[in-house]
Amino acid sequence: MFHTDLNTGRTIIGLSPRFYLVPRTGPGLKNGAGRTNLPEIYRIPPEAGKDKFATFMWMYRHMVCAWQQSKSEIYSLLFFNLTRCCHLKYFTMSQNRLEGKVALVTGASSGMGRATALSLAREGAILVCCDLKAEANPNGYEKDLAETTVDVITKNGGNAIFQKVDISNFEQVEAAFEKTAQMFGRLDILVNCAGFWAPFRKFADEDDDLWAKMLQINTAGTSKMSRLAIRQFLTQDVDESWGSRGRIVNVSSCAANIAYAGEVAYSATKASINHMTRSGAIDHARDSININCIAPGVVATGMARVNLENKDVLQTMKGATPWSRLGVPDDIAQAILFFCLPESQWITGQVLAVDGGMTLGVPAE
Ligand SMILES: NC(=O)c1ccc[n+]([C@@H]2O[C@H](COP(=O)([O-])OP(=O)(O)OC[C@H]3O[C@@H](n4cnc5c(N)ncnc54)[C@H](O)[C@@H]3O)[C@@H](O)[C@H]2O)c1
Repeated sequence: MFHTDLNTGRTIIGLSPRFYLVPRTGPGLKNGAGRTNLPEIYRIPPEAGKDKFATFMWMYRHMVCAWQQSKSEIYSLLFFNLTRCCHLKYFTMSQNRLEGKVALVTGASSGMGRATALSLAREGAILVCCDLKAEANPNGYEKDLAETTVDVITKNGGNAIFQKVDISNFEQVEAAFEKTAQMFGRLDILVNCAGFWAPFRKFADEDDDLWAKMLQINTAGTSKMSRLAIRQFLTQDVDESWGSRGRIVNVSSCAANIAYAGEVAYSATKASINHMTRSGAIDHARDSININCIAPGVVATGMARVNLENKDVLQTMKGATPWSRLGVPDDIAQAILFFCLPESQWITGQVLAVDGGMTLGVPAE
């Protein structure tokens, strides 16, 4: 039943090395033609998952063609194909590079957190989606705003739960970690994406309440989440093939790297996340725990809509971004995903600007 794929070294499930099924190259499908020497007829066609009828016809045709083969092999192949068909949606969604990993994402209902949760789920991770509420920010630009992140993941065959958490409320934060441990017995990835931003105002006009809220959410909330995650990671063994005991990816801001007018409290608290990343990473490098950070530029999300709809602010932001467009949540999600993959196991304590070049210097025009 269990075999090793000689091309990839992965454990595969099948009747014999000749009869396991490998999806061919197609959108979202793992492996590809050329990475297996299986005969064509044993491979699921690329249209599988999109059109169930076509998939069934393919199976029927090839069952008949293969009738020359021994009956038991054919029945087994049919059974296995049917089993796989039940999981086709899962297959179309997953590359499985994070299969079995448990990932907790804050701010997962909207924008970058949502895009991140979806991309981790596509890689086979089990998601604990934490946010103030399950519903997406109604100002967001997501096409499927009406559906929650958990709905989108589970509808596509992934595995996710929602956990209501305000990261500034430490009881709720602790409850989220307890629930994660209870339900899944481990945690492998924490993405600290939830954050608080307030409309532009001069430094002198910022009040104590604003500072207290910024500090409590952006600095203390991110710190509390990280400390609890690290404590959980320390109870787990290093996953040798992944290279780590656990990963944390923080989300700060371009405003943490250079100064922007009108957001001192935001910039200062986001800068604290950059440095929490570096100093936390030094403390836990020997524990094989990676802590990295993404500093996004201007990204079209519900949080940014107020700026994107202001002609003057929009012009300033476009002018300050050398790249020819502003960001979308997936630009950030893909960078976060990289920090969660085995390939990035030797990277820690880094703050990566994903900002279309906004923090490089003064653009030409
Ligand atoms: N959009 C940008 O241009 C931009 C630029 C730089 C940095 N950021 C940062 O990116 C992160 C994601 O923001 P976004 O643009 O995707 O916004 P968004 O509004 O689309 O999503 C933010 C999500 O975080 C949740 N959230 C807010 N406060 C929370 C709290 N205390 N506890 C738990 N969840 C909370 C919200 O409910 C929301 O679902 C934030 O940390 C933000 O500061 C955004």
